[in-house]
Amino acid sequence: HSAYGFFGEHQAGITTPVQDHLHFASFDMMPRTDREDLISLLQDWSYAASRMAQGLEVSATGAVGGSAEAPPDDTGEALGLPASGLTLTFGFGPGLFENEEGDRYGIAAQRPAGLERLPAFLGDDLDPQASHGDLCIQACADDPQVAVHAIRNLSRIAFGRARLRWSQLGFGKTSRTTTTQATPRNLFGFKDGTANILADDAAALRDHVWVSTQDEPAWLAGGSYLVARKIAMLIETWDRVRLSEQDAIIGRDKGEGAPLSGGDEFTAPDFQGTAIDENSHMSLAHPEHNDGIRILRRGYNYVDGNNDLGRLDAGLFFLSYQRDPAQFVSLQRRLSTDRMNEYIRHVGSGIWAVPAGVKPGSYIGADLF
Ligand code: HEM
Repeated sequence: HSAYGFFGEHQAGITTPVQDHLHFASFDMMPRTDREDLISLLQDWSYAASRMAQGLEVSATGAVGGSAEAPPDDTGEALGLPASGLTLTFGFGPGLFENEEGDRYGIAAQRPAGLERLPAFLGDDLDPQASHGDLCIQACADDPQVAVHAIRNLSRIAFGRARLRWSQLGFGKTSRTTTTQATPRNLFGFKDGTANILADDAAALRDHVWVSTQDEPAWLAGGSYLVARKIAMLIETWDRVRLSEQDAIIGRDKGEGAPLSGGDEFTAPDFQGTAIDENSHMSLAHPEHNDGIRILRRGYNYVDGNNDLGRLDAGLFFLSYQRDPAQFVSLQRRLSTDRMNEYIRHVGSGIWAVPAGVKPGSYIGADLF
């Protein structure tokens, strides 16, 4: 597939078959901006995003079609490249609704009750340089140049209204969202996304991912909540763990991804016997041990260079979509005894309300204003 429509009932980039690359960006609104600034930013972003999703430049004059005496509208590095399955998914953070400057945009009363910074979890070691933000954009594409071009140009369009707070590149998906995608692997070498919510599971999406018209607030119906967690993985330590122990920690076997209770990758795990450790990652995260809670995972592997001991600064940029932030909070608390915790460290965190899809002629989050 080379292009996904920007307009629709839900934003693209959630159930869309997970693309190969990610550029995730978090923005803060500039001081003293007002409601008109925010609305115009969302309108400008929507216009540019709808064009880039088709593989077009951000404006009709683009990179080279405008005046030779002015900087071009489009930065140009995606000229000649196809849409590459680009999706741009926009979210609103807690700070947009109210911060030290008060209710700058006149939307404080519309803040979803559950949209607040995630509570501190056991073992959190959060870096403010990789956490929070008033707005976010998840750019996914099969070509990294296309994803980076999109974030670069959307940041440029935001000039004077919002500025980049932090951003993260991801390569290699760690999840699948359709039955036709083979399950990819994370940097521990394990298949990841086996038990994910998939695009064709309408009932699971309705129950666990989309905010419904019965939920509050009404403007978010058809949307979702996005949680991002930058999770460093101590891969050199992991690589010294014997295979049977690695399997036991995850609760699945490394080769096939089958539950240790037997069968193949898609056999349901059997928690009755002793084959699966009750503190394995899969057991603790499984809906059977979480009152049926499920989430849609859409994370990416990352490597941000290395430290001076020669260890890779690597991990999983975890992204999940859920109908209510409480789903993530509850799962993450359950994972407090996860045997995998010895090999990971949560270093970044953010939460955003992701409005429903955009109708042609309208813009992202229009129902909020
Ligand atoms: C399942 C890895 C963090 C929630 C899995 C599986 C692996 C895995 C290998 C089994 C295959 C699958 O069903 O996808 C990791 C790694 C993580 C991480 C390496 C961090 C570096 C998290 C976090 C959460 C989470 C933070 C949520 C708070 C889940 C869930 C499942 C799962 C819900 C499916 C369980 C089931 O229904 O069987 N993960 N995970 N994971 N993980 Fe994680």
